[in-house]
Amino acid sequence: MNTLEAMQSRHAVRSFKNQKIDSDTIAALNNEIDRCNKESGLHIQLITEEPEAFNSFLAHYGKFSNCNNYFAIVGRKGNEEAAGYYGEQLVLKAQELGLNTCWVVLTYKKNKKRIQIDNGEKIIIVIALGYGTTQGIPHKSKDMAQLCTCKADMPAWFRNGMEAAMLAPTALNQQKFMIELTDDQAVSAKALSGMNTVLDLGIVKYHFEIGAGVNTFKWL
Ligand SMILES: Cc1cc2nc3c(=O)[nH]c(=O)nc-3n(C[C@H](O)[C@H](O)[C@H](O)COP(=O)(O)O)c2cc1C
Repeated sequence: MNTLEAMQSRHAVRSFKNQKIDSDTIAALNNEIDRCNKESGLHIQLITEEPEAFNSFLAHYGKFSNCNNYFAIVGRKGNEEAAGYYGEQLVLKAQELGLNTCWVVLTYKKNKKRIQIDNGEKIIIVIALGYGTTQGIPHKSKDMAQLCTCKADMPAWFRNGMEAAMLAPTALNQQKFMIELTDDQAVSAKALSGMNTVLDLGIVKYHFEIGAGVNTFKWL
């Protein structure tokens, strides 16, 4: 499965099987985390076999069941877009490895004993992780025309980028972003007002890059 196929098959999953993640898979995820942390300066950590985070009243409210593993996306104030951009790389790596995920900003309990939070850092968000009881279902998307503007005829690479961006998970499936093709090969992406839209933007930008081809255009 390549990254684009992982995007197409990924959907939020909140109910997991009682199946441990094996050590090879954990090692592969930790390699990817190391790469993301080096590139971004984030302090992402993989927490396994820790049922407490998703065992609280809030977690029931969010309808999570049997979730014992998660990525803790730890970083500094202002790291929200990077949290989305790099967190989604881990989501897609997990999908390629046969796991399922769900981004979670609200409905979990912070277990500060297991997560290392250095001075000036905070938990920005977590990503629930495990073998899903189902693969989830595709989200409803706004039309492409509501999510982008393009002055000239839309080039194929931009359409491919938009199709991938429309597959991106966003908080409450709000899709509050706008992508604009301003002139030859230059693209701007903006978060619109709403909760967690800057984090959403990081996720959306990663999807767009994979769909369009990272060397095809430049971000404004
Ligand atoms: C930044 C962010 C925060 C989210 N927070 C929660 C949450 O607190 N609880 C929850 O159940 N789902 C949460 N989600 C999952 C979204 O509801 C889900 O991704 C969205 O409905 C799109 O569905 P999909 O992931 O299946 O494409 C969050 C997603 C994102 C991107």
